[in-house]
Amino acid sequence: MKAIVIHEYGPPDVLRYEDVPDPVPRQGEVRIKVHAATVNRVLDVSLRAGREQYRGPVLPLIPGVDCAGIVDAVGPHVSRWRVGDRVSAAGIMPLQICTEDGSGYDGPQGMMGIKRPGGFAELVAVPACAGVAIPQNLDFHRAAVVMRHVPTAWNLLMHVAELKYGETVLIMGAGGNLGSIGIQIAKNVIGARVIAAAGSDERATLGKKLGADHGINYATHNIYDEVMKITGGKGVDVLYDNIANPAVLPVAFRAIGMDGRLVTAGAHAGPNVSIDFSHLYHKRITIKGRPGYTPSDLPHCLEAAAEGKVIPQIERVLPLSRAADAHRMVEAHEGQGKIVLDPTLG
Ligand SMILES: NC(=O)c1ccc[n+]([C@@H]2O[C@H](COP(=O)([O-])OP(=O)(O)OC[C@H]3O[C@@H](n4cnc5c(N)ncnc54)[C@H](OP(=O)(O)O)[C@@H]3O)[C@@H](O)[C@H]2O)c1
Repeated sequence: MKAIVIHEYGPPDVLRYEDVPDPVPRQGEVRIKVHAATVNRVLDVSLRAGREQYRGPVLPLIPGVDCAGIVDAVGPHVSRWRVGDRVSAAGIMPLQICTEDGSGYDGPQGMMGIKRPGGFAELVAVPACAGVAIPQNLDFHRAAVVMRHVPTAWNLLMHVAELKYGETVLIMGAGGNLGSIGIQIAKNVIGARVIAAAGSDERATLGKKLGADHGINYATHNIYDEVMKITGGKGVDVLYDNIANPAVLPVAFRAIGMDGRLVTAGAHAGPNVSIDFSHLYHKRITIKGRPGYTPSDLPHCLEAAAEGKVIPQIERVLPLSRAADAHRMVEAHEGQGKIVLDPTLG
């Protein structure tokens, strides 16, 4: 099969499109014919550049921390998946042989694309327990993007912030991946009042197009003043920030109202940000960081996407052979939304 292989860390050119042996699914595993795999700033681009050593990748490596496609072979002792099933997989999963539902497994775990071969390939074998069925009316490209960001946003808003119907949430980075998804979950799934904030008019407008009730450009406006105008001086119940922009977050923090919650799973523009502690205690604010997701949410996330409540933003779909170009685009911070690699396109 064809796959992208990293033999050494470095610029995008180190991503080699080459022939490698087809993976053979082991006991408890399925093999997926990949139709989509997403390109991510941290887990793919930063890993390829050699900045994610602490995650323990071992070269040569087929990257790609998620995939969506069709089951094309099943290993021994797998009965819950059949050849032809539509399936997606992502994230942390068993590295060694396990039962098809993962029960009783206490061996090492790790992410596909980092600790085991990933989705930047025509075929990938994953533990059957890591697969999630894709609803019929959801295409592979969107399914792969859903697996990447929707569960994290879902976890942050539903479980960590415990955002309620009718509460007000301020979503930072409205044009970004977690931001654009957060807006839709907050509005279409939870029924909250949503303020979308971003560093350009274009991205703030995108937030409104995605369903936000209000949009703020924090590059041209004071985000605290704007939120106070919108909320009548009350402030927001939840601040959803996954950026940690040191110029903006301290101002947005002061726009959190009584018993407010700040939730985060990212800090790529920080990580150090100054916080007004007097506002923190006067308003009885809780700050919670929680990366990752709750696996039992995955089917709900895919279903929300299939129902059109969450529409993942896809910037471009490229053939797998253009993985290096995709990395360059992500590094250049071009466009809005995800770049998806589709090995069926070449
Ligand atoms: N499992 C997890 O816990 C998980 C999953 C996904 C993501 N994350 C983390 O969450 C964060 C957001 O991920 P994402 O995919 O949503 O990010 P993204 O779409 O690449 O970026 C989000 C926003 O950040 C702002 N931004 C980007 N680069 C910046 C820079 N150099 N300086 C200042 N602002 C910048 C931009 O917004 P404006 O310019 O409009 O402000 C952009 O729209 C990342 O740190 C990522 O590692 C964690």
